[in-house]
Amino acid sequence: MRSLAFASIKGGVGKTTLAAHVAAALADAGRRTLLLDLDPQGHASLLAGVDPAHDAFCTADAFGLRPRARLQDVILPTARTQLFVAPATSRMASLERDLFRWGHRLQALPRAMQALAEPFDALVMDTPPQLNAFSEAALAACDLMVVPLPAMAHALQGLGEIRSAWLDVNEGRGAAVAVVNLWDRRTTATNAAVEEAFAELEMPLARSRVLRAEALNQAGLGFALVFDYAPTSEVATCLRELAEELWRRAGRRSAQ
Ligand SMILES: Nc1ncnc2c1ncn2[C@@H]1O[C@H](COP(=O)(O)OP(=O)(O)OP(=O)(O)O)[C@@H](O)[C@H]1O
Ligand SMILES: [Mg+2]
Repeated sequence: MRSLAFASIKGGVGKTTLAAHVAAALADAGRRTLLLDLDPQGHASLLAGVDPAHDAFCTADAFGLRPRARLQDVILPTARTQLFVAPATSRMASLERDLFRWGHRLQALPRAMQALAEPFDALVMDTPPQLNAFSEAALAACDLMVVPLPAMAHALQGLGEIRSAWLDVNEGRGAAVAVVNLWDRRTTATNAAVEEAFAELEMPLARSRVLRAEALNQAGLGFALVFDYAPTSEVATCLRELAEELWRRAGRRSAQ
């Protein structure tokens, strides 16, 4: 299995949008994929077409010394045959403190995944826009940390902090990559400035960039994926390319 964690302490940079689309693209390419939602906002679950009731099982129910549920029982199918979702609900906000107090949060994911009856090819995790027990659990367990960078002023804000946290908890098991999101060919002066900032990056930059696209935004407003809303759009193509690139990058580590 190859595991990807979308992370950034900066909010609204595209973690959820990219995580849900990359998971769907990997599934559409035939890989059995689990989208694991670790953000109590639950937007990744909704984008993937899953809307659990408030009191339904959520990802965090499968964590801890005596988990309330097995991960197996938390996972829901989607309209895509190869895409499954471990959903987040708002209840997760209080379960985060339990995970923190438990003390073994860095082991939470491997332990929960151990009990799965059927293995997955890909694990894609969406994390909240802060460093907490959920984001640390994801960073500890991933083959590839993916940090979206918005192509705008202050693009690198918070990058140093997420990188340090990842270095601390991942202990060299995985790799990291930054992905340019909201790329707009028309804003040439901004692009020149952000290109300069990206040249100083302390982590590799993905070759695939995600365009700023109204289709993606409109799809998101209706909690739909652009693959279903505008499947032949340019942004859909670049998201599929990004998924393949990240899959290859994650493979370099999971094979070691
Ligand atoms: N490439 C893009 N083109 C157009 N809109 C985008 C793009 N990427 C993200 N968005 C929009 O930006 C908003 C924020 O995106 P998203 O929710 O994915 O960010 P996030 O980093 O997960 O935010 P949070 O920190 O709150 O979890 C959403 O409305 C989404 O539709
Ligand atoms: Mg999000």
